[in-house]
Amino acid sequence: MTKFVKTTFAAVSSPGQERKERGTLVVFADPDLRLGGATAELMGPAAELIAKSAAVAKFKGKNGTAVTVLAPADLDFDRLIVIGTGPAKDFAGLDFVTLGGAVMGKLPQGATATVLFDFAETLENPAAAAADFALGLHLRGYRFDLYKTTKKDDGESKGPAHVTIGVADPAAARRAYKSRQAIAEGVDLARDLVNEPPNVLNPEEFARRAEKLQEIGVEVDILDEKAMRKLGMRALLGVGQGSHYESRVAIMRWHGGGAKDKPIAFIGKGVCFDTGGISIKPAAGMEDMKGDMAGAACVTGLMHTLAMRKAKVNAIGAIGIVENMPDGKAQRPGDIVTSMSGQTIEIINTDAEGRLVLADVLWYVQDKFKPEFMIDLATLTGAILVALGQEHAGLFSNNDLLAERLAAAGKATGEAVWRMPLGAAYDKLIDSKFADMKNTGGRFGGSITAAQFLQRFVNDTPWAHLDIAGSGMNSLANDVNQSWGSGWGVRLLNRLVADHYEK
Ligand code: BES
Ligand code: MN
Ligand code: ZN
Repeated sequence: MTKFVKTTFAAVSSPGQERKERGTLVVFADPDLRLGGATAELMGPAAELIAKSAAVAKFKGKNGTAVTVLAPADLDFDRLIVIGTGPAKDFAGLDFVTLGGAVMGKLPQGATATVLFDFAETLENPAAAAADFALGLHLRGYRFDLYKTTKKDDGESKGPAHVTIGVADPAAARRAYKSRQAIAEGVDLARDLVNEPPNVLNPEEFARRAEKLQEIGVEVDILDEKAMRKLGMRALLGVGQGSHYESRVAIMRWHGGGAKDKPIAFIGKGVCFDTGGISIKPAAGMEDMKGDMAGAACVTGLMHTLAMRKAKVNAIGAIGIVENMPDGKAQRPGDIVTSMSGQTIEIINTDAEGRLVLADVLWYVQDKFKPEFMIDLATLTGAILVALGQEHAGLFSNNDLLAERLAAAGKATGEAVWRMPLGAAYDKLIDSKFADMKNTGGRFGGSITAAQFLQRFVNDTPWAHLDIAGSGMNSLANDVNQSWGSGWGVRLLNRLVADHYEK
């Protein structure tokens, strides 16, 4: 993992020492075209070149702007990129992850580059900023090209990009980067899982990939169908019964806290492919339903991150992994299943399957681990796209403090959430004539009735549900993500844990 970008921290005074190719030089300029002190010294006569290029390009050093100079005279580089930072007084509020992503977006594929990250005089914690910057480079550099046998020959190097980041204190930056590398790897893992095709990432294979987390100190237990039948997880099993593959639940446990500390728990919807089942979906765009396991992918990526950075917390990741297929053995509309909780569910639409999977996993985790909180992530409803578009995930919660903390972590990481309502009037909509509840609530408020359904499997445990149908797959491209599967939620939840739940 993190195979697309190699970053090295070096002293800003001699950042090019290990350089074999000329490559790209990246420097930063404020609105007065002021460079950092060390940069100005290193640039020498090229300062005039920058001023001239800036004038031609009408470059004013504004944050989010840049000017590129090819074959710059007086410099031992093939290209020079000047990145605007805005005024120095605003540096403390700069998002250096996004900045790193933006810079990576300007580099040619496989580039060799040197960045003069010259903020030692203007930032309180330049090492943390440099580490954030490097995280942005990695996030932006991710590609999923496993199945491309012919690569475009555009004259650019196909290997990983090599970026040397010149800083005042390389050792401090390297130390700060450790936790960011854990994040980059967790996001990469989640993205890989979402992008993998459904013939490769079937439920049994997903369980094996989750099991691999054992190598980094995560305890992993896999429940197979026999074990689930014994537990009474018939809501989950009903969804998978039309599939050639066996359903699985993977329980990943990271013990980084005290022996007596209650764990925090993350639960993911892992529908490896959602045809809709007997209530089959239309053909157009159905291929996207390989991403219906983005919630489970996020939970797996998050557990990877927590373990790699040895987070001081006890955390559980539990994912329900199934494939929703039409078949002679598949579940029917009209079926009534008994969930692990004992509550019965009338199936109205076999395409409302995610909530059935989560019902049993939520109940199991609550019952077995008595967690401090449970947060579930699911590509649960198309309706959340109608309500919020792709720029916010839907947040539902029975706990204001947890909801506020999630919203704050969302703002801090750019993985934004928007709180939606819950209430008895919505809950009524899923009462059933024949069973305790039905699995759909009619045309209106589809994301809310789905959340109400989940809440029926939560007792007093603080709980939040994130509907990521718009953000986890088929994702918007931005400075830090160009991937179809965004790995959405890994950074958000890692931030939540780091800010509030570690000792
Ligand atoms: N996996 C889908 C939701 C989805 C839609 C995710 C679009 C990503 C993009 C989910 O299982 C589903 O099919 N939901 C139905 C629920 C309905 C039958 C009540 C939906 O949203 O139409
Ligand atoms: Mn569905
Ligand atoms: Zn689904």
